Amino acid sequence: MFRRLCRAILLLQEILFGTLKDIYSFITIIKNIKGGDFVIGQVINVFSTKGGVGKSTTVKLLSLVANELGKKVCIIDTCENSSIATGFLRDRDSFKKSAYDWFIGDAKPSEVIQQFGDSNIHYIPSDERICSFSDWVNQNIPKVKQLQVLSSKIEPLKKAFDLIFIDSHPTATTELVHYAIAASDYCLIPSEVDKDAVDGANRCCQIITDYQQAGYVIDYGIMFNKVELGFKVNEQLKIMKQTLIDLGVPEAKFLGNVRYSKTVTTTKNEGVMLNRTRNKYADNVMNDIRAVNYRISFALKQNEVNP
Ligand SMILES: Nc1ncnc2c1ncn2[C@@H]1O[C@H](COP(=O)(O)OP(=O)(O)O)[C@@H](O)[C@H]1O
Ligand SMILES: [Mg+2]
Repeated sequence: MFRRLCRAILLLQEILFGTLKDIYSFITIIKNIKGGDFVIGQVINVFSTKGGVGKSTTVKLLSLVANELGKKVCIIDTCENSSIATGFLRDRDSFKKSAYDWFIGDAKPSEVIQQFGDSNIHYIPSDERICSFSDWVNQNIPKVKQLQVLSSKIEPLKKAFDLIFIDSHPTATTELVHYAIAASDYCLIPSEVDKDAVDGANRCCQIITDYQQAGYVIDYGIMFNKVELGFKVNEQLKIMKQTLIDLGVPEAKFLGNVRYSKTVTTTKNEGVMLNRTRNKYADNVMNDIRAVNYRISFALKQNEVNP
């Protein structure tokens, strides 16, 4: 009698536990579907062959927006200036190991990933050695595998992060730029309202188009940054946009404009996050970035449906 009772209790416990487990996985699936504008583990490369257009700033601000939306983010800094670490208030020389060590297999991700406070924002800092990474690849990786060298590094991170940003290296001549593109689902190209910057943006669009034609599932969009308000600048903006359209960039690739505000630089210098700054200038720039984030997530969703 006692034995039977024990067996019945065990059976009941198993059924109950199994059901709870099923309910838990169901809730997790629903949460993942509902919670994400982005599909898990997508790689967004903020890419420009021109320095100073706002790549590192844009990566930082987009991460703040992703954090607001509850997304877990990892930024991979591939630029020697290490602006991502300084942007998140760390001394660039304070790291034992950086992206370069991880890239060449001398560090595990856990040894290089840093967390910003207790937020969902993580980043892998960089340093000057990153510039010699392509040489290391040429000496150590078979030619046929070279272009995929970053993508194979990033693949395991996709399980741990909703979004992975790459702060791109600012020269088209380094192979590192191509390893980053080959690892990305989306390239965001920031441009200033300036003829040289627009030429640079056009080159970037061409490069991504080459990848698309070679069979890569990758999309891109252009964001005008540091846009000053006023009639004359607005006219310039229209001309620059039309120049790109005439060169073959589809209208749908324009993601919107992020306005110029001194607050962006002053808050950076003061070590304050822009979305924690309570003034209308900071709010306006953050709202511009939120709109860009929305457009990128929309484009990525379209690609999921029509790869
Ligand atoms: N929307 C903006 N308004 C004003 N200044 C900006 C804006 N975006 C970037 N900046 C400033 O422009 C400079 C270059 O930006 P940065 O992100 O370092 O460019 P990159 O990474 O492309 O070299 C920095 O001083 C930054 O604070
Ligand atoms: Mg930078």
